[in-house]
Amino acid sequence: MPEQKKEIVLSGIRSTGNLHLGNYYGALRKFVAVQNDYDCNFFIADLHALTTNPNPEDLHKNARQILAEYLAAGLDPEKSTIFVQSDVPEIAEMYLLLNMHVGIGELMRTTSFKDKARKALGITAPADDSDEAFEKEIIGASTNKRVNAGLLTYPTLMAVDILIQKATKVPVGKDQLQHLELTRRFARRFNSFYGVDLFPEPTDFDFGGQPIKVPGLDGSGKMGKSEGNCIYLVDDPKVLRKKVMHAVTDEGPKEPDSPMSEPIANLFSLLELTSKPEVVQQFRDAYADCSIRYGDLKKQIAEDILAVTTPIRERVNDILADEEYLAKVVRMGAEKARERAAKTLAEVRYIMGIRKF
Ligand code: TYM
Repeated sequence: MPEQKKEIVLSGIRSTGNLHLGNYYGALRKFVAVQNDYDCNFFIADLHALTTNPNPEDLHKNARQILAEYLAAGLDPEKSTIFVQSDVPEIAEMYLLLNMHVGIGELMRTTSFKDKARKALGITAPADDSDEAFEKEIIGASTNKRVNAGLLTYPTLMAVDILIQKATKVPVGKDQLQHLELTRRFARRFNSFYGVDLFPEPTDFDFGGQPIKVPGLDGSGKMGKSEGNCIYLVDDPKVLRKKVMHAVTDEGPKEPDSPMSEPIANLFSLLELTSKPEVVQQFRDAYADCSIRYGDLKKQIAEDILAVTTPIRERVNDILADEEYLAKVVRMGAEKARERAAKTLAEVRYIMGIRKF
């Protein structure tokens, strides 16, 4: 019997610094879990990292760091194709071609673009949240506080990452779902414009569960590098415990079965991710009968997070020190990733009418 073709899984993480618990639970843990059963492709999104104009030295350093953290968390280059986005130049070319089918308006309405553009312009709390007001803010911005075009076309680049490998399953956190929706739309549009059946429509990949949002420690919103509320996989135990112990709480439940405030619900979300169900239940019961002590809850969370992060942290430095190994992993990965990317790009060029004389 011929071997059945495995479904193609693909995902990436921007190389903007160390990986945090949001990256781990939203993405990396899932990458590791599916390695044996799928055609897996995981990359370091260094071109996406350029959208926020990092220092050149930091860009490379961060890419190495993410690679080492991928490997330390259990990604196996013998099972998964692990590569650096910029090592696959076919992506950049197809990004140019796909952009011809993407509307400025749909890109401008993307939530992540609105957030990042406002950050670039220094607008923290917009008085008017309408699309019209937003467009005026962007167009009226002075050139020294510009919103770069790469930030606007970020979803095109992400769609290309996925479509160039013809991936159908994309493990990501909740914040990336809108980008995936756009990817499907671009795939459909390309197929129907040219009357072809080139791109499959990818979906998120959560093994039957829901894509998650890991909260930060500051009481509201998600954990994120730019939010400054992260627990990093490589945080030293002392630092990690301190961060968790400083997490925002409230005054505690005053009556049995009180509803939870957002900061407490967030702590319970972290507990659910890292602790055993019986431990979670114990704290839920203590909250319900008002006997909970937030100090104990935080200690439990810190120790359970450390149980997950310690083995990763302990491996990272050894991996980072082995330059030769790191270079070999990405060389192997780039070779494999380029093979399929080149094939798709050739198809796209042909379909769009770019032919050799
Ligand atoms: P990035 O680098 O912002 O995040 C990487 C992954 O981590 C997930 N994540 C979270 N999940 C849950 N809770 C959180 N607090 C949290 N913070 C981050 C993200 O959802 C993501 O899965 N555009 C992508 C990178 C990318 C990509 C791709 C992903 C580029 N091309 C192609 C998939 C396929 C990004 O910026 O992720």
